[in-house]
Amino acid sequence: MTGDALAVELKGIEKRFPGVIANHDVNLKVRAGTIHAIVGENGAGKSTLMKTLYGMHQPEAGTIIVDGVQHVFRSPSDAIAAGIGMVHQHFMLADNFTVLENIILGAEPATRGVISFSTARTKIEALMDSSGTHVNLDAPTSDLGVGQRQRVEILKVLYRGARILILDEPTAVLVPQEVDELFSNLHRLVADGATIIFISHKLDEVLTVSDDITVIRAGTTVAEVKPDEVSRLQLAELMVGSELPSPHGRTSTVGTDVRLEVRNLSVAGPGDKRLLDDVSFVIREGEVLGVAGVEGNGQFELCEAILGQVHPIHGTVLIAGDDVTSTAPHFRLVNGLSYIPFDRHREGLLLDAPLWENTLLGRDADEKFLRGPFINAAATRADCREVIAAFDVRTPSEVVPAYALSGGNQQKLLVGRELSSHPRVLVAAHPTRGVDIGAQAAIWEKLRLARDQGLAVLLISADLEELIGLSDNIVVMFDGRINARLTPAEATPELLGTYMTGGLQEIAS
Ligand SMILES: Nc1ncnc2c1ncn2[C@@H]1O[C@H](COP(=O)(O)OP(=O)(O)O)[C@@H](O)[C@H]1O
Ligand SMILES: [Mg+2]
Repeated sequence: MTGDALAVELKGIEKRFPGVIANHDVNLKVRAGTIHAIVGENGAGKSTLMKTLYGMHQPEAGTIIVDGVQHVFRSPSDAIAAGIGMVHQHFMLADNFTVLENIILGAEPATRGVISFSTARTKIEALMDSSGTHVNLDAPTSDLGVGQRQRVEILKVLYRGARILILDEPTAVLVPQEVDELFSNLHRLVADGATIIFISHKLDEVLTVSDDITVIRAGTTVAEVKPDEVSRLQLAELMVGSELPSPHGRTSTVGTDVRLEVRNLSVAGPGDKRLLDDVSFVIREGEVLGVAGVEGNGQFELCEAILGQVHPIHGTVLIAGDDVTSTAPHFRLVNGLSYIPFDRHREGLLLDAPLWENTLLGRDADEKFLRGPFINAAATRADCREVIAAFDVRTPSEVVPAYALSGGNQQKLLVGRELSSHPRVLVAAHPTRGVDIGAQAAIWEKLRLARDQGLAVLLISADLEELIGLSDNIVVMFDGRINARLTPAEATPELLGTYMTGGLQEIAS
């Protein structure tokens, strides 16, 4: 019944927390029988708004209308009674119960005070069939993977008779195949008359599956668009409220001094194979050299050789004209080299350590952070607060552990740390992989700013838009070698894709 009937209408919603206005003047219209996406940066107020609709928060102002009827929800049970169900970002299942018990928990069918498991089972089996959401009802919940837990949460909501389903970042925890399955099940539910509201910041999936998209920025609704009316970039710009880097119309800041040079660099692999094979390039001050390539074609070995973490069997690495080929990694780091690693969790951050220890990481020999032989805690913390402020890391303070931050904020902290030592050369491996679009834009801006001030950047990225948008020159790696060299003006994702898979091997030099 995709028509103009509204399943949900929110008008002028305001929700405050001490010191924070999480939502203000929010207006939302969700048509019945549609999939409606809510997008926005981390902290924009999406979860708060949905919790308000679900009766978990009571708004300071505003109106909630469900199926044409105005409601005041004092608790989730009021919202459930109005046909609303919510699957949270962080699941809330009891591990020591079976799946069946979890689904009926709090809504047990009883005959004269005795829970009727068989009645429940029959009802749930019917729901599993109609929604395509299958799970073993007798399994202990503790045995379930994340994807299966999510199915249990969905069944739990359907079991309570929800016709309006709210899913908060449901795909954040799923692998691609599970995402496809989830969306096909959501389409089945909609075909069956349900209405779906889902939060996401993965714009590709939002553009693919939703009927309508509402954008929330800084606590308020700023746009309602249809997926076929906007590009991914336009949607991202609506989310962050400013223009994002694009490859066109920028001025070059490439200077003349060579900051990083690699000459005929080769790294041995198993047997006769070379993981890196005769690679040469220069990066000048103020230049971003982008490296495109399918993962595993020598990019990692190239970084390791530049950082000194692996010894090349052949070739030279020069930083600002100095041959550093036989020096230790630490020497290179204190002489102007910085690194954003491939895997921030394994290499870049100490997740259990507070943020201030993380920003100190790799810089603990800097006198600025020492008092005699000891760490100067006050100076270190003050420095961390500077990174937090300059890089807009969203955190209550510098003493929280790194794991408490979202991926985007972890990465902003890491990039902030690497740039605040004012390096001459930055090796940046996938600097925005897995972060939300707001953090991505912020990181891009910081990289550009540093480049404008003369930083030489080796940018390894699987995001071809990012690569074309930020680079002054691009090389494509295939099978350990440079397979093509091109400018961002001539590079298209299609052409890069061809070189990345080994096609058109003629430009190598
Ligand atoms: N229970 C709460 N108490 C205090 N502040 C909160 C609470 N929930 C959310 N916030 C704050 O409200 C803002 C919006 O948060 P949230 O709705 O979770 O954003 P999103 O889901 O878009 O990432 C953030 O600044 C967050 O810190
Ligand atoms: Mg949220």
